[in-house]
This record gives sequence, C-alpha cells and structure tokens, in this order.
Amino acid sequence: MSTSPDELMAAAREAAEGAYAPYSKFHVGAALAFADGSVVSGANVENVSYGLSLCAETAAAAKAMNEGRRGGLVAVAVCGPETHAITPCGRCRQVLAELAMLDGSDPVVWCDGPDGVREFRLSQLLPEAFGGL
Ligand code: THU
Repeated sequence: MSTSPDELMAAAREAAEGAYAPYSKFHVGAALAFADGSVVSGANVENVSYGLSLCAETAAAAKAMNEGRRGGLVAVAVCGPETHAITPCGRCRQVLAELAMLDGSDPVVWCDGPDGVREFRLSQLLPEAFGGL
C-alpha cells in the first residue's frame, strides 16, 4: 500500500496537536508509514529538565516498536510550526535507523517547511549510520 506525502504529513500535523511543549512552544509531529499500510504517529514530550525531552520522531518510533513493529518502515513525515523548515535531529535519525535496519529498509523522509515538503532518504540524512558492534 502506498502512502502519499500529503496524507502522511496530515497525520503528522494532527499528531502535533498532542505535543507537550510548554518550554519551547515548538510543537512537532511525526508520522511513520509501514509496509502493511499502518501509520504510527507521535509528538514531542518535553520535560522541565530540558535534556530529558523526547522528540516527536523518537516518540513515534518507540510507540511503533512497543506495538511490535520490527521493520517495514517505508516513510516518515515530520512537521513543526508552519513558519519553520524542519528535519529530524541527529538523535532521531539514529533512532529511526534502528527500526529501518531491522529489515534493511531506507525510508523516505518528508520534511515540512514554509517552502513546501522536502524529500530525503534516511540514508541521506544519516550516512554511515552506526550499525552495531
Ligand atoms: N523536536 C522534535 O520533536 N523533533 C525534531 O526533529 C527537532 C526538535 C522538538 C524537541 C523540542 O521539544 C522542540 O522540538 C524544540 O527543539
């Protein structure tokens, strides 16, 4: 089943409404599309101890893995406030790479911004990802 950038970005935007970001006020949503047609989304969850905050992509990946997914990640959509171009932070790139490496996939990553959606492959965003010992 194919997922369009528009559909997956709409899921990310809806997920951003669940963000808990009282410190940065920067609401981020992420949606992950899987080969079986399912979509898992998440939003950032901040903490008063700022460094403990979770990004949207990490929250979505954790949810997907907690639900038993072990691969099959075909696409990721990420959005922030409409005024900002966003790409996943470095830590989230590695978190997404863990899920992708389980079946050797290289998901497309759609990143929203004021000039439209930019498309990358995860391997472009994180070349030479750490793959284990
Ligand atoms: N954030 C994400 O959720 N994903 C990203 O890719 C970049 C940043 C969050 C972390 C923090 O809650 C807020 O955005 C500001 O950095």
